[in-house]
Amino acid sequence: MHTATLIAEQVHLKSSSVIGWATGGTMLGVYRSLRDMNLSFQHTRAFNLDEYIGLPAAHPQSYHHYMRHNFFDHVGMPEAQCHIPDGGCDPEHAIAKYEALLAAHGPIDLQLLGLGKNGHIGFNEPGASFNGTVHKTVLSPTTIEANARYFEASTDVPREAITMGIKTILSARKIVLLACGHAKADAVAEMIEGVMSITCPATALQLHDDVTIVLDSAAASELQGCEPS
Ligand code: GLP
Repeated sequence: MHTATLIAEQVHLKSSSVIGWATGGTMLGVYRSLRDMNLSFQHTRAFNLDEYIGLPAAHPQSYHHYMRHNFFDHVGMPEAQCHIPDGGCDPEHAIAKYEALLAAHGPIDLQLLGLGKNGHIGFNEPGASFNGTVHKTVLSPTTIEANARYFEASTDVPREAITMGIKTILSARKIVLLACGHAKADAVAEMIEGVMSITCPATALQLHDDVTIVLDSAAASELQGCEPS
């Protein structure tokens, strides 16, 4: 709810906000809350973080489908203002197109982020350059395993994706990261209290001066000085 409120505040402040959206199970509650707020997103522009390569927009596990089904279709977002990398065509072409759209309509006013168990943001896996722009990436075994729950079998999870790079993410004016559950606790502690390193991509957020991190108590449980509840 807190995350949805931060997004609502951004839209109230600037109705034409450019918002970077995220996917994953953690975000479902955010989209539910935003739908319930009956807020108009009509004048906003959306850029999603990432998309699986090999899944066309109509595929039920694509992030295109996720966003339409969970959010865009419910809040009156004009299709022409919703941008997600195209996982169904030649990746080089999709990347160039996405970069051009970001250059034309950016910077992103508010970027929403989830967190991978291995510290990934978007699909920037451990080892990703902090200087990366939109690019093709190979998913790590940890990510394939974590995301297998959304597919019939883990062998169905695409091995590659197109993602905004860390430099793209850091160019957003404001960042809001949401993480929930024990599975994220180690990555959360590393992100906030660890040494900045490409081995934990989320530590790159230490370079940004306007990041809000929203956690439940389980995700916060490995932070020093945080009493387990
Ligand atoms: C995917 C997305 C990430 C997201 C992560 C967390 O890997 N590419 O952007 O942060 O999932 O997902 P969940 O919320 O399901 O744990």
